[in-house]
Amino acid sequence: MTRFEETKADYKRLVEGYLETSLPSADCIQHSVLDAMQYSLLAGGKRLRAILVLEFCRLCGGKPEAALPFAAALEMIHAYSLIHDDLPCMDDDDLRRGKPSCHIAYGEAIALLAGDGLLTYAFETASRPILELPPQRQLRAVQELSKAAGTYGMIGGQVVDIEHEDTSIDRETLALLHKMKTGALIRAAARLGCIAAGASPEQEEAADRYAQNLGLAFQITDDILDAVGDEALLGKPVGSDADNHKTTYVTLLGLEGAKQEALRITEAAKSALLGLDWDCGFLCSLADSLAVRQF
Ligand code: IPE
Ligand code: IPE
Ligand code: MG
Ligand code: MG
Ligand code: MG
Repeated sequence: MTRFEETKADYKRLVEGYLETSLPSADCIQHSVLDAMQYSLLAGGKRLRAILVLEFCRLCGGKPEAALPFAAALEMIHAYSLIHDDLPCMDDDDLRRGKPSCHIAYGEAIALLAGDGLLTYAFETASRPILELPPQRQLRAVQELSKAAGTYGMIGGQVVDIEHEDTSIDRETLALLHKMKTGALIRAAARLGCIAAGASPEQEEAADRYAQNLGLAFQITDDILDAVGDEALLGKPVGSDADNHKTTYVTLLGLEGAKQEALRITEAAKSALLGLDWDCGFLCSLADSLAVRQF
């Protein structure tokens, strides 16, 4: 393993350990919703958003204890967004993270409520008193999280995504949609890591530009993998975008064009970090590895 891979694995272990002990006990009358929340939250995944929170916190001189609740909250919101994204009324996908989607395993009603439960529990987690963090900074972080997850961010992007099935959209609109549905949570991850550490405005600005570009490149690669990926590696269906008549970077630019665009935007992400005197090796390797990922 390279040093980058080791650090990534360490971050993943740290957040997974936190998530495993974080959900309320399912020993109660409403256990089915807690079982479903656990099923989707602990099903693996790259933990990209959590990794970004932890690495930006480290880069800006913060302690992981200050950032972990935000890292976990982002993974909860992300898991909820995936549960709802897979529902028959949305993308109607039966496979997620290599397992039956939440609504296949638990039924639509419980899946819907498990998504709601994860969203709500994310805010319970992010607003819990954090010894290492002044309350004013924590409040700012919670507000940023709300905005990124809400109608200005992820939910807004999902709305535009669903409303434009069966209609073609131009490149500018698609970029905006991708920045909202996927970019907003990735951007929030970088920003929350900075807030947890008490970063300078310059550091926050660089983190923000890196993450905006990373988020867009990430969704372009997701579009590519939906067209030509390997379902066994991806752990989710291939061809879902075509089945749902979505406009994607692949339908707009072709496969090669989309790959070039993902690489171009990945370079823009990395160059956002260069002006500051910090050790950005991990974040550059992360951006490079995501642009050529297979899952
Ligand atoms: C999938 O996100 C949905 C998108 C926003 C593209 P990820 O590719 O980060 O999914 P996991 O967390 O690794 O399963
Ligand atoms: C969904 O984008 C982004 C979310 C907010 C969940 P996709 O619909 O392309 O994500 P996948 O491909 O199902 O993971
Ligand atoms: Mg979708
Ligand atoms: Mg989908
Ligand atoms: Mg996709």
